[in-house]
Amino acid sequence: MNVLGIESSCDETAVAVYNEDKGLLSHQLYSQITIHEQYGGVVPELASRDHVRKIVSLVRQALKQAKLKANELDAIAYTAGPGLIGALLVGASYAKSMAFSLNIPSIAVHHLEAHLLAPMLDTPKPQFPFLALLVSGGHSQFIDVNGLGEYDIIGETLDDAVGEAFDKTAKLLGLAYPGGPKLAKLASECTHTPYRFPRPMTDRPGLDLSFSGLKTFALNTWNRSGKTEDEKKAIALAFEKAVCDTLVIKCKRALAESGRKRLVVAGGVGANQTLRQSLKEMMASLEGEIYFPRHEFCTDNGAMVAYAGCQHLLQGKRDQDFAIEVKARWPLNELS
Ligand code: KG4
Ligand code: ZN
Repeated sequence: MNVLGIESSCDETAVAVYNEDKGLLSHQLYSQITIHEQYGGVVPELASRDHVRKIVSLVRQALKQAKLKANELDAIAYTAGPGLIGALLVGASYAKSMAFSLNIPSIAVHHLEAHLLAPMLDTPKPQFPFLALLVSGGHSQFIDVNGLGEYDIIGETLDDAVGEAFDKTAKLLGLAYPGGPKLAKLASECTHTPYRFPRPMTDRPGLDLSFSGLKTFALNTWNRSGKTEDEKKAIALAFEKAVCDTLVIKCKRALAESGRKRLVVAGGVGANQTLRQSLKEMMASLEGEIYFPRHEFCTDNGAMVAYAGCQHLLQGKRDQDFAIEVKARWPLNELS
């Protein structure tokens, strides 16, 4: 069974083909970063227009790379939310029209579910049940995952998502959008930092997170510093350490509360090497298992959408009609 996956929820147009037996056959991605960089963030209208410009050629490239003709596809999966409405509409309209013309099913995929299944694109695959730490540009959540479609959010951020905090802190340090990876690179060029940032909400019980205070702390520290390159690197390192320590502390707590021994880390910030290392060490000390997506599948991609769509199809789930419905907001636990 060949499933085409289309992702267009934000600023990446991505298309992939996943085969139930052979695995991933192709994946293509076009990032709009150069368009949005000059505005310091994603401009929704420009994002939609650029998805329109790129989607046809990306679908063709993905089919060519998979050595398939369109009529050899069995289903088309697309991200139906959460995300930017205009951007989502481009992928959904294209997917549903193509499915209609080929007389095959279309499958609406939840973007966050696709993220948390992304580690299953490689082996060894994490087995259900597990605890998922989802850390992206728009979300930061602990999710108790019992099986496909069985998601219980047991903790989440009360304000900024981790990726958002990385991007905002990077911006105030003068780094271009999206600053997360650039801030991480700066931090890696510093071996010692004199600054100690708070570990938000770790001194009280519960699994909720909060990252907006760290950004303010970074701003105040930067304004009080001599604003040299070395101080910038030291602030980047102190910020990254605070985020990683906080996530490790809360993750340990979430594992204890959920009784899980298996951790799946997903979403764009899952690409952060310091976070990966800290979480690996924590899981080793607990004698548990940890899984990450391949580096390129941490951030938005079509492969995770094709994979999630294929799993739903195997369970007999598919769109019931050709109405085009997308959702800007769509809590993951509403899927269950
Ligand atoms: O999952 P994703 O592609 O988009 C959403 O669904 O939100 O995540 C993008 C986020 C951005 O905030 C980006 O700065 C962050 O992930 N990110 C990183 C790293 N790579 C991507 N943050 C910290 N360190 C990284 N290496
Ligand atoms: Zn995403």
